[in-house]
Amino acid sequence: MAAKLKFSPLVALILIAGMGAGMSRAGNIAVYWGQNGNEGSLADACNSGLYAYVMVSFLTSFGNNGQSPVLNLAGHCDPGSGGCTGLSTEIEACQSQNVKVLLSLGGAGGSYSLASTDDAQSVADYLWNNFPGGSSSSRPLGDAVLDGIDFDIENGNPAHYDDLARILSQYSSQGKKVILTAAPQCPYPDASLGPALQTGLFDNVWVQFYNNPSCQYASGDASSMLSAWSTWTSSVTAGSFYLGLPASTAATETPGNGYVPPGDLTSVVLPGVNGASNYGGIMLWSRYFDVQNNYSDQVKGSV
Ligand SMILES: *[C@@H]1O[C@H](CO)[C@@H](O)[C@H](O)[C@H]1NC(C)=O
Repeated sequence: MAAKLKFSPLVALILIAGMGAGMSRAGNIAVYWGQNGNEGSLADACNSGLYAYVMVSFLTSFGNNGQSPVLNLAGHCDPGSGGCTGLSTEIEACQSQNVKVLLSLGGAGGSYSLASTDDAQSVADYLWNNFPGGSSSSRPLGDAVLDGIDFDIENGNPAHYDDLARILSQYSSQGKKVILTAAPQCPYPDASLGPALQTGLFDNVWVQFYNNPSCQYASGDASSMLSAWSTWTSSVTAGSFYLGLPASTAATETPGNGYVPPGDLTSVVLPGVNGASNYGGIMLWSRYFDVQNNYSDQVKGSV
């Protein structure tokens, strides 16, 4: 009896720890919105109730020693002529439903680079004053205060994105938290975001497991993907990691390149990732393909 009393708290602890390790966690879905005029409105995306994060994409030009930043929202509206300021109402509606709205920098196209620490400082000032804080006479998305900045840098030039992350994170210390997120490709380390991610300043990292045959899912085989996931989650310090996925077979450069059918995601892939203490959920490219394929709706209960 004495021995039992002595050891039962320990046994209870072991049981709790064991349950924690074996239990899947509730994750979030993050989605890119902005690059297809036929994907529905930002408000529709948020009203779907499917997403915790929407990344407004993309700021396709910036930096390069002070070139004028260009926001491109494809067929949605024309930021250059002030045609997107009405999105403020939608952004605020998203936020009132607990959906974080971020501005995404870069993308696969576009023309961007950071020439120096000073250039990074100028870009950071521009971003701060036009999106997550500050003030400016020409805010492309109007007065709404965005929740953060997403780094989708894909051009292989990593210079000074670590500076940009540090400068943006310093704005957070002024009272308004600026969420920082990043979308590296799955081969580790990432050619464009490697040094930036080494700062350890990112809240969420959504790793792109598509358009990357060396580390993506392929016809029932999740081994390369799970091995890359394990490398990422053990090598980079970040708030949480998301599995970045194409929302349909049409969402990738080569059709199907990394697509994980919903049933395979829930039965094969998620059990291999959602035990990680820093697992955050899945990221989808993009809202357009998610609407076409009804992907989120089919997997949300398991993410
Ligand atoms: C989308 O998936 C959900 C969950 O499986 C299902 O209930 C719904 O009917 C689907 N919608 C369409 C349009 O296929």
